[in-house]
Amino acid sequence: MAPASEQLQVAQPFTHDPRFLILYGSLRERSFSRFLAYEAARLLEAMGGEVRIFHADGLPLPDDTTADHPKVQELRSLSLWSEGHVWVSPERHGNLTGVMKSQIDWLPLSEGSVRPTQGRTLAVMQVSGGSQSFNAVNSLRILGRWMRMITIPNQSSVPMAYKEFNDAGRMKPGPLYDRVVDVCEEVMKFTLLTRERADYLVDRYSERKEREPDRFKVVAADIGFVKR
Ligand SMILES: Cc1cc2nc3c(=O)[nH]c(=O)nc-3n(C[C@H](O)[C@H](O)[C@H](O)COP(=O)(O)O)c2cc1C
Repeated sequence: MAPASEQLQVAQPFTHDPRFLILYGSLRERSFSRFLAYEAARLLEAMGGEVRIFHADGLPLPDDTTADHPKVQELRSLSLWSEGHVWVSPERHGNLTGVMKSQIDWLPLSEGSVRPTQGRTLAVMQVSGGSQSFNAVNSLRILGRWMRMITIPNQSSVPMAYKEFNDAGRMKPGPLYDRVVDVCEEVMKFTLLTRERADYLVDRYSERKEREPDRFKVVAADIGFVKR
């Protein structure tokens, strides 16, 4: 096994702009989570990113049809294309919405060697009708862990969202908006730092062992992890 420092060498530095997929969890016509998703998109583009937003209207419930449904295919190919995600959910009954969860549930952890979420960065945001809470972002963090994503430390929670956006759907200036800028800046930085080595980050000993059982008949100590 090559020393860790050698494995860190980037074979081919990326030259394309960082790619972000934004998911939001509402189908309402005047949706504040969609407005927030668009604010994040504008900011990430201004910072040099390329952004796609997935609209969940027409997406079937998980397992209600097969994965070859065009909306499922659209979602999966956008996630594969992406190097970072932003997830924006409304808080509904103290948690993220079913619309948000359905999108995540349609994303496979892995399909053969294809891993649509693993190793990508993730920023989480929520909007609420009531006072500020962190129920939805906390649940989104758990989902990020399950999808093996690099969830950044900062996050945004917009309370009483109906007060924070003007008639045109733009977020009003203020500390809540500044926080959204901070979160976008941070997810951009983490993406720039990690995207070239996402493959290295998701490579796991236990999975290598599963793939090549003959090579790993010996214990970890025999393959260079531990000196005896
Ligand atoms: C059924 C239902 C449950 C809700 N539960 C909560 C809640 O637990 N906490 C909260 O702050 N707001 C709650 N809200 C308000 C929504 O978070 C708020 O309307 C939000 O803007 C919805 O997101 P959207 O504008 O993107 O559709 C609830 C709204 C509905 C319709």
